[in-house]
Amino acid sequence: MNESTLKIRLMKAGDFDVVVGIDEKVLKASRQEYYEVKFEKLFKSNDYLPVSLVAEEEDGTLVGFVMGEIYMGEYGIFHEEATLDTIGVDPDYQHKGIGEQLINEFVEHLRKVGVRKLNTLVDWNDSKLIHFFSANQFSPSKTINLERGL
Ligand SMILES: CC(C)(COP(=O)(O)OP(=O)(O)OC[C@H]1O[C@@H](n2cnc3c(N)ncnc32)[C@H](O)[C@@H]1OP(=O)(O)O)[C@@H](O)C(=O)NCCC(=O)NCCS
Repeated sequence: MNESTLKIRLMKAGDFDVVVGIDEKVLKASRQEYYEVKFEKLFKSNDYLPVSLVAEEEDGTLVGFVMGEIYMGEYGIFHEEATLDTIGVDPDYQHKGIGEQLINEFVEHLRKVGVRKLNTLVDWNDSKLIHFFSANQFSPSKTINLERGL
């Protein structure tokens, strides 16, 4: 596979099974319910602008995806910030630049609709993922996430 045969397109509701499958392969655990809620929200509500993308090979094989949200809010009031919730590339296709391509297209798409800042949350101990985001120009934000054990 080379990059030129890869197509990045908007995610469709019908991509559900493949997205869940890639995520399961990456995390070695199923998050079917998490994606059911996310797909329900993103594809059945008019409050969210479609921004999630998938990477597809020429033969239609889906090899990666990136999901995010822009909440339109009441009366279509638009926010300049968006979130990147989940990214996943099939382990058989990693380290070929697909993750980077997905981020670049995602950012370009968001920029076109007026977004000026993109947020994501990463596990402090996931050094591989932190490195990936850092290589793709993400840096620690000035807001910190506080928590308290109960
Ligand atoms: C993070 C992730 C999306 C990266 O996908 P990817 O397609 O492998 O990403 P890229 O190929 O763009 O970059 C990965 C690495 O490959 C390197 N690379 C890019 N093109 C390359 C090439 N042609 N040859 C060799 N290496 C290459 C990049 O420099 C990068 O190296 P680095 O990690 O040392 O910076 C993927 O590893 C993944 O799905 N991880 C799990 C994510 C996860 O936990 N998701 C759930 C919560 S969000």
